Amino acid sequence: MRRPARVLLAGVGRVGSAFLELAAARPELEVGAVVRSTGPTVDELLAGGGWDVVADATPSDLTTGGPALVHARAALGAGVHFATAAKGPLVRGHGELRELARRTGAGFRFSAATGAALPTVDTVEFALAGARVLAMEGVLNGTSNYVLDRMGESVELETALAEARERGIADGDGRADVAGADTAAKLVAIANAVWGGDLALEDVAVTGIEGLDPAQVRAAARAGEAVRLIGRAVLEEGRVRAEVRPVRVTRDHPLAGLRGADKAITFETDTMGRLTLSGGRSDPRAAGAALLRDVLLLLRVGPRA
Ligand SMILES: NC(=O)c1ccc[n+]([C@@H]2O[C@H](COP(=O)([O-])OP(=O)(O)OC[C@H]3O[C@@H](n4cnc5c(N)ncnc54)[C@H](OP(=O)(O)O)[C@@H]3O)[C@@H](O)[C@H]2O)c1
Repeated sequence: MRRPARVLLAGVGRVGSAFLELAAARPELEVGAVVRSTGPTVDELLAGGGWDVVADATPSDLTTGGPALVHARAALGAGVHFATAAKGPLVRGHGELRELARRTGAGFRFSAATGAALPTVDTVEFALAGARVLAMEGVLNGTSNYVLDRMGESVELETALAEARERGIADGDGRADVAGADTAAKLVAIANAVWGGDLALEDVAVTGIEGLDPAQVRAAARAGEAVRLIGRAVLEEGRVRAEVRPVRVTRDHPLAGLRGADKAITFETDTMGRLTLSGGRSDPRAAGAALLRDVLLLLRVGPRA
């Protein structure tokens, strides 16, 4: 019988704990060690050899790339598959990591960081294989969608944000969610994965929802329409143009029907037309499940399909 794949888990917070619990039920996986912010590092444990995958659930740092970027360099550099829930390495060093993975033959997956339960990059890689993505547009942040829905019901933004924190929907204090930074980071990560470029966070024009006039959100809801925080990226003459901003959408728009913390993404392609996926839970357990999916795909499929 094949031995279980040895997984090194970095970060045992909400997502990491969910991953640990889900992985414990998989006979093909063995979490051989966990790395916390103190104690042995990923680098030190990798040096001992015998690892198949590093799964990372450390905090997202959009400025420096954070511990996940350090872990990604260590794992991929050693030829060990790497999966992460953190957005840092995807907006700081995506191109470098892709190249490193190509050189060492290791795989690099990050679906927990780009929509978690909602498959985004996986959809393009598998379901849309062979088609060319011309544009993508999505509601990629559950917190801001929840807040906008509640604002449509006349609840104030700060109250709705506090509710999102209580329900475990918000990442941290939720400020990066309503400011549009989280949406921008996911958009950059998905665009770079799909188009193989090196779009930077600074290339995205971002307007969040904090400055929105609540009366406009209520008026849209009364008319049966909705305001959504939409991230959109378009490939134009070989260049990616990307923006995040609140948009009032009519009821027949594919992103209008979302409720609460739902997320969704639409891909426009050359041969398969327009495809929209929506739903999936937005919480740490779903993110842990997405990290597990990435680990299983790395073991089954290897580097990118
Ligand atoms: N929560 C969600 O629903 C969700 C959804 C999708 C993606 N994500 C992403 O998933 C990641 C984890 O989120 P979370 O909600 O689980 O955060 P969390 O509860 O704050 O957990 C993060 C854990 O990482 C540990 N850590 C910090 N620095 C470390 C280092 N250098 N090496 C190893 N461990 C370190 C922290 O431990 P210490 O306490 O010892 O510092 C903490 O236990 C984040 O990048 C987040 O953006 C979260």
